[in-house]
Amino acid sequence: MKATVLDATAPDGSGAPPGGGAAPAMSAGPIAEQAAGDGNGSYRRPRTIRIRIKRQAGPDAEARWEDFDVPQRPGMNIISCLQWIAAHPVTADGVATTAPVWDAGCLEEICGACTMLIDGKVRQSCSALVEKISTDGEPITLEPMTKFPLVRDLYVDRSRLFNDLKRVKAWVPIDGTYDLGPGPRITQKQQEERYPLSRCISCGCCLEACPQYTPVNRFVGAAVISQVRLFNEHPTGSALKDHRMKEMMSEGGVGDCSKAGNCVQVCPKDIPLLESIARVQRDATWYALKKLIGQ
Ligand code: SF4
Ligand code: SF4
Ligand code: FES
Repeated sequence: MKATVLDATAPDGSGAPPGGGAAPAMSAGPIAEQAAGDGNGSYRRPRTIRIRIKRQAGPDAEARWEDFDVPQRPGMNIISCLQWIAAHPVTADGVATTAPVWDAGCLEEICGACTMLIDGKVRQSCSALVEKISTDGEPITLEPMTKFPLVRDLYVDRSRLFNDLKRVKAWVPIDGTYDLGPGPRITQKQQEERYPLSRCISCGCCLEACPQYTPVNRFVGAAVISQVRLFNEHPTGSALKDHRMKEMMSEGGVGDCSKAGNCVQVCPKDIPLLESIARVQRDATWYALKKLIGQ
């Protein structure tokens, strides 16, 4: 990258300004602001933010940490820090490394792909604004989610979540080439109750925070349970309710939830997950009773 007065990482690591002026001393701190004059007018180098990334070349490779100093720009998010690092894969110690790997799609907190642990808290990196992350002078740490299989660095495989949505048939069965006519009417009240449930972006935050959801069990977790509620309560979606309730009562179903409520605290879309869990649990109990009396 061509060095400019705003480029904190001149190729020789000196931070020298264009025109050959004296290079200001690099700050040793994680966040630094440096200003110096070159005799022809002053220039200001940007603050840099130190990003510490957990690197792992693959699921079985050894993990290590790498620090990067990224010039901070107004409105910067964690994804833009990662993009800058990918374009300048040199650690804060000046060691050349590989570009970190992460996943992202929409860049507007809709696809859920960029979810990771930022300073230990699970959230979307596209909506994590650097200036709103309190660092107290410490680096911002980035780690992959821990409940899904690691692909590489910050990139995990969320297939289990999508397979569990398939497991409970989380859809309205209206496929067909024939004219199905108008759908059933839905009242304003029903619409207002269900809309929040439909905001799920399958990010996996609720699963990362859930003590019951582990890489070795079959628990489907809060996101899937809430989708069961959404589609069971839909007049057409309810055609598949029996199938969903059977799944909810089998291994990994709603009975595995311990109702600690971690999920609801980390959901970026404020979905009333505990309410959904209670509703599906109630339906599962009712379903079991009906089975017992042979209805
Ligand atoms: S209530 Fe607790 S156990 Fe149940 S899904 Fe949420 S975090 Fe997991
Ligand atoms: S319920 Fe919330 S936290 Fe869980 S996957 Fe959906 S949006 Fe993410
Ligand atoms: S990139 Fe889609 S939610 Fe962040």
